[in-house]
Amino acid sequence: MIGRGAVALGVGLLLAVGSTTAAGGSASDRSEIRHTPHLQLGDAPLIGYSGSETDQVRVMWQTVPEGSATNDSFHVEYRLESAAQWLRARAVVRTDTGVGGRVIHHSDLLGLDFDAGYEYRVQHVRDGVILATYGSAFRTRLPEASNRSFSFAAYGDSANVSSLGSFRLLQQRINQVDPEFSLLLGDNTYNDGSHDQIDARFDASLNPEAAAWNSGHIDYVSFGNHDVRTRSGQATEDSFSVPVPVVGVTAAASPPVSERPEHNYSFDYGSVHFVTFDTNSLDNPDRLDGLIEWVAADLAASRQPWKIVFGHHPVAGTPDKGESPSGGYYSRLVPALFAAGADAFMVGHSHTYGWSYPLTGGRDGTAAFVSHRGTAYREGDGVVQVVSGVGGKSVRSGSFGQFPFMAAGYTSSTEPRAEVGFTLVEVTPTILTFSYVAADDGEVIASFSILGGADHWGVPGRWSLRLSVT
Ligand SMILES: [Fe+2]
Ligand SMILES: [Fe+2]
Repeated sequence: MIGRGAVALGVGLLLAVGSTTAAGGSASDRSEIRHTPHLQLGDAPLIGYSGSETDQVRVMWQTVPEGSATNDSFHVEYRLESAAQWLRARAVVRTDTGVGGRVIHHSDLLGLDFDAGYEYRVQHVRDGVILATYGSAFRTRLPEASNRSFSFAAYGDSANVSSLGSFRLLQQRINQVDPEFSLLLGDNTYNDGSHDQIDARFDASLNPEAAAWNSGHIDYVSFGNHDVRTRSGQATEDSFSVPVPVVGVTAAASPPVSERPEHNYSFDYGSVHFVTFDTNSLDNPDRLDGLIEWVAADLAASRQPWKIVFGHHPVAGTPDKGESPSGGYYSRLVPALFAAGADAFMVGHSHTYGWSYPLTGGRDGTAAFVSHRGTAYREGDGVVQVVSGVGGKSVRSGSFGQFPFMAAGYTSSTEPRAEVGFTLVEVTPTILTFSYVAADDGEVIASFSILGGADHWGVPGRWSLRLSVT
């Protein structure tokens, strides 16, 4: 048994492997593992479409050349945690990144039961001898109609290869809390999103906490301004694998064809629908309008009672960034998200922490929002923007007094002060709770909730309520 979240290394004799290029294996030159095997969703069908009756994960790892050529290969196997027999995974696919000899390898584990415990192992074989075995236990996603509560982490502005201490502390805290997965809210690898810098997240010798986490949990990526500095984000595209929207398979609608694949996608987890779009479009009205149209169509097609949109740039309300309700980004996006039923918009970019009251739109450059005395909002009142840009970079200063639509805000100069941390979102069928968790001691600095509206009442038979009125 391989412990959850652990990267297991071992050396032993290979007893029963046939051809090194058989299904589940790949032959290559003499290779050194640079990124240890980690999980991604791959091109999973969107819930409700053909193929979504079962779940899947993609196991990915990266190698660099090591010395003279030999007969190296990789073998991927998986099984239900309770099963005795290992099953051979799909054939390993190699993709040369064209950068420094880096080769991405992946193998898909398909036909998995939802809400089930599995384990996998990747064996690195050289001339018939197992050099090392990597692997982890993991859990598949909750199915669409599940009532089970779950949690996920969300943070932006994190890994910096030249100064990794704060992000490692954050990841260590997340590992201890052990949510189901993370949303990466952009600026995931400073300073330019290059392959060398992405090592800060996937090279186990540089960041053992992150490697332990991502061996058994999925980080769902979105793209910040720093991530697209090198070749428009190519290295991040290479290193992560998310559903590329294909209408009727992985998506309900197509983003504009001019958009890069993997920057815009959606997926479901239990009662929540998630969608991200490339907010680097914020200053380009044509591009932004095309993406907002796609996000609105995606949200409209979702049957899930909770809808969370994530990206990188806040629409307004942060002391260290210039976006405001008078800008085109706010005035285009907020009314569209509100009309489409989004519950929350989760972002980073501002190296602060804060959230807004439910936003509905605006007029004459002023935000329209529903003010609340307490920290429990009603679903349907508006879209709550959550800024969680304290993933490891130095926290910024400033105050929130000029933003009446912000419900709470924390910087290095507020009391209490902002510190490196993440948002822990706890999901039940009727309540979403967002907590700001400090990396160093796990303290919950602040929290708020969104209480589910009418479409949550019928749980577990919520669809029957909806059907009865149509
Ligand atoms: Fe940033
Ligand atoms: Fe940023």
